[in-house]
Amino acid sequence: MAAVVETNPAAAAATAASAAGAAGRRRGFLSQTQATSPVDAVVHGRLPDWLRGSLLLNGPAVWDLSAASYAHWFDGLALLHRLHFGGNGSVRYHSRFLDSEDARLSRSRGRPEFGGYDTPVSGGLLSRILHVFDPRRTDNGCVVLSVCDGQWQAHTESDRVMRFDPVTLATIGELRWADRLALPLMAAHPCVDSQGRWWNVGVRFGRRCEYVLVSADRRGERRARASIVTERPGYLHAFALSARHALIWECAWRAHPLRFLFAGESYAKHFDWLPAKGSRLHAVSLADGSVSSWDAPPLLVFHGVQAYERGKDIVLDLCLHSAPVVEEFAIERLRAGGPSEAARARHTRFVLSPGAAAAREEALPGRFELPQVNMKAALAGPARYVWAASAADAVQGGSFFDRTIKLDHASSRITERAYANAVALEPLFVPAPGARAEDDGVLLVHTLADNDAGSVLRVLDAATLDERAAVELPVVVPFGFHGAWAKA
Ligand SMILES: [Fe+2]
Repeated sequence: MAAVVETNPAAAAATAASAAGAAGRRRGFLSQTQATSPVDAVVHGRLPDWLRGSLLLNGPAVWDLSAASYAHWFDGLALLHRLHFGGNGSVRYHSRFLDSEDARLSRSRGRPEFGGYDTPVSGGLLSRILHVFDPRRTDNGCVVLSVCDGQWQAHTESDRVMRFDPVTLATIGELRWADRLALPLMAAHPCVDSQGRWWNVGVRFGRRCEYVLVSADRRGERRARASIVTERPGYLHAFALSARHALIWECAWRAHPLRFLFAGESYAKHFDWLPAKGSRLHAVSLADGSVSSWDAPPLLVFHGVQAYERGKDIVLDLCLHSAPVVEEFAIERLRAGGPSEAARARHTRFVLSPGAAAAREEALPGRFELPQVNMKAALAGPARYVWAASAADAVQGGSFFDRTIKLDHASSRITERAYANAVALEPLFVPAPGARAEDDGVLLVHTLADNDAGSVLRVLDAATLDERAAVELPVVVPFGFHGAWAKA
C-alpha cells in the first residue's frame, strides 16, 4: 500500500504527548452547551476560487444534561453547523441547536426523555407504561442531512424528520407526513437519484413486518414503491441506489417488534444479533417495484459504498462489520480513548446474479468507514474512486478515525493521509464545477489534533490528498458523522 503521510504541524509538536495531551483530541466528545454566533474563521493556504457555498454538519453535541447523561456517541442532542465559503478566501462559521421536541423536553427535565441509540427512555416504570400507549421516537436529527425537493432536513433513525434553514440554521419544524404510512423506523440516510427524486426505506411493524421503499416530496407525501415482508427486520441505517435499483441489506441484527412497543429500552436493545439466520440482500426495481432477493452471510452494515448494474448482475459494495458495534461507541469509552475497530470496516463486494440463490462475496481493498464517492459517477456506475475515513490497525495502536484514504479501483492503489495525534472524520467530496475527471474536486475533512485550539477543517485535493487549505474554527466542533455541501 502506498502511503502519503503528512503531519499536521501542530500535532507533530505533540508527537510525544503526555497522557493529558492525548486527551486533547477527545474534546470532540465533550458536550458543547453554547451555540456560536457568526464569526470569521482563520484560513491558511489557498481555497479554490470555485469553492463557494456552505459545509453543513449536524452532529450530536450535548451528552450531559443537568440530572443525567446520554450513554452513547450517537445520542447527543443535535447541533447544526455552517461553514460558509464566500469565494474570496473567507470562511464564516456559526452553529445553532436543532430545536426538536426531544431537545426541548430533555433539556427542561434534565434527562434523556426519549432515550437514544444506547440510552434508555428516562423516567422509570411510569414513563415506560406511558411509552406503551405513546411510543417515543426521537426527532433528534443528529445523523444525516438531506435535501428533499429543495427542502433541507435533519435525520436520525426514525420517521421524525426536522426541517431547517440552511443559511440561518433555524429549525423550521417537523416534517408532518401527509400520508397514512406508519413507518416508525426509517433509514437515517435517504438517497437522491439522478433525476433528483428523494427515496428512503422504512419499516412497518405488525403481524407481518415489512420494509417499505418510498419516494417523497417536500410536502411529506410519501409514495410506497415496494414492500418486502420479513419475519424480523434487520437494523436499518442506510440503503443504496444504483441507476435502476434500490439495494436494501437485511442485517442479521434483527428487531424484536414487541420491544419497540413495550420496552422503553434503548434503540439498540430492541435488536438481537442472530448470525445463524444469515442475511438477505434485496434489489428493488425503481421502474416497477419488483423485488429480487439473495441469501448472504450475516451482515452488520451501516454504510454502502456504491451500487451499480454490470450486465445482468448488480454489484453492491459495503462497509462490513463482523458484529454490532454498540459498546465501542459508548461515550465514556470514547472519552477515555477506548480503541475502535469499527473505524476499519471490511470493504466487501456482493455480486447479485439473476437466478442465483446467494450473493457472491468478494473482498475489496481497504478497511474504512464513512465512505464517499462521486455520486454522479456512482449513479452512472461504477465509481472508480472511493474516499473514506480510516484508522491505524490495532497492531499500530490506532484507536479512532485518524486518516483520510483514497482507493483507486483501477489500480487497487490506496493513498493515505494520516494526521498525527488527531481525529479525522468523514472526507466530504465536493466536485469542482465542470469537472472532467471523477476526482476533480476537494475533500472537506473535520479534524481535531491534541494541540489544536479548535476544530480544523482540512481542504484536500481529492485527486492527490494534498492539503490546499486549513480552516481554523474558534471552537471545538463535537464529533459527528456526516456533512453536506450546499451550493452558493
Ligand atoms: Fe451514517
